[in-house]
Amino acid sequence: MLDKLTQLPEDSILGLAAACRVDPNPHKVDLTVGIYMSEAGICPVFDAVRLAQQALIEEETTKAYMPPAGDATFNTGMQRLVMGGDSPALAAGRVSSIQTPGGCGAIRIGAEVIHAAAPDARVWVSDPTWPVHIPLLGSVGLSFETYRYYDPAEHGVNFEGMVADLQQARRGDVVLLHGCCHNPCGADLSLEQWGTIADMAERQGFLPFVDIAYQGLGDGLETDAAGVRLLAERLPELIIAASCSKNMGLYRERTGAAIFVCASADNARALVSQAQVAARRIYSMPPAHGALLAGRILSDEALTANWEDELQAMCRRINGLRTSLMSKLQQHSDRDFSFIEREKGMFSFLGLTPAQALALREQHSVYMLDSSRINVAGVNGANIDYLAEAVGKVLRGEAA
Ligand SMILES: Cc1ncc(COP(=O)(O)O)c(C=O)c1O
Repeated sequence: MLDKLTQLPEDSILGLAAACRVDPNPHKVDLTVGIYMSEAGICPVFDAVRLAQQALIEEETTKAYMPPAGDATFNTGMQRLVMGGDSPALAAGRVSSIQTPGGCGAIRIGAEVIHAAAPDARVWVSDPTWPVHIPLLGSVGLSFETYRYYDPAEHGVNFEGMVADLQQARRGDVVLLHGCCHNPCGADLSLEQWGTIADMAERQGFLPFVDIAYQGLGDGLETDAAGVRLLAERLPELIIAASCSKNMGLYRERTGAAIFVCASADNARALVSQAQVAARRIYSMPPAHGALLAGRILSDEALTANWEDELQAMCRRINGLRTSLMSKLQQHSDRDFSFIEREKGMFSFLGLTPAQALALREQHSVYMLDSSRINVAGVNGANIDYLAEAVGKVLRGEAA
């Protein structure tokens, strides 16, 4: 039976990262996977995580199953982190959540709940979006529509196109939005534009589903959540998928939360029961370690301050890299790269063709996605000149 199954192609992003790992060129540059890399080119463990981990190891008395909704301290901490401590919806008890295996788990649980409520729901996704959104939502049986989002010519959000397309979204439809630091393009909505989306959701009755995987890495924890908080203030219902992978560096611990903003406290409780039953069908209980660390960090003032300081430093570094990369690229080519400085978070498209991205890979060992999406955090003082020179050469059509 199993011999019918054939080898599948490698994941496009992970496959490129693997190819970079085995590239013997000492100058190779890996800008593929969306993980934060320090100046030293490593993905660091947060100091607050290390401290929380030491305390946990000393205090832990059991490895028994987690409750189906996960750790209560974690859930409360995540609700406050995303919604803000003064959220009216939180105060009204209209918010509930369950701990999930990463932001991916939260997206999948959100999709399960949507499917239970409206099996025929169409999910509107941005063009482009993070490719993994499609299998995560589609495997539940939801169908897709696309709205225009990124304008490659202008290197920014095509908001007119987005609004025109979303005018066709109706009650019973879901609109998937990136809370901040859009993956793959780095172009985010302004607060005014979030307001327009809230107006449309109110008028047309669609349900926003906000994926916020990079809170704290764009402009800071509060500013990055301003859009999702605006929706939560204005609308009766909202689903949020949050992740601690990037902003706490807990990638491998699979730590996330599916958060439900509901019309009533009763409905918020009902949503937890729905989400738990959905989780039972897939993985039963969430993993403990990451959520126990995150819960501890979010509930301890000193650890929170320590974590926030380190996160702010990362955010400043990314924004500094954006400025340096823009000017280095402009030194080596006659193109305007100012959009890199305007965009937010880890990702930007460099605006190269797939053939140019391939030439960078084959001739210079500079690895980015074929779309020319780069992980800005993969740039550092040691590789920025090499990278900018290589991009300049490829843009001029020069051989290596
Ligand atoms: C847009 C977006 N959403 C969600 C996630 C989920 O991340 P994780 O499952 O690692 O928490 C990612 C990770 O790269 C992402 O880029």
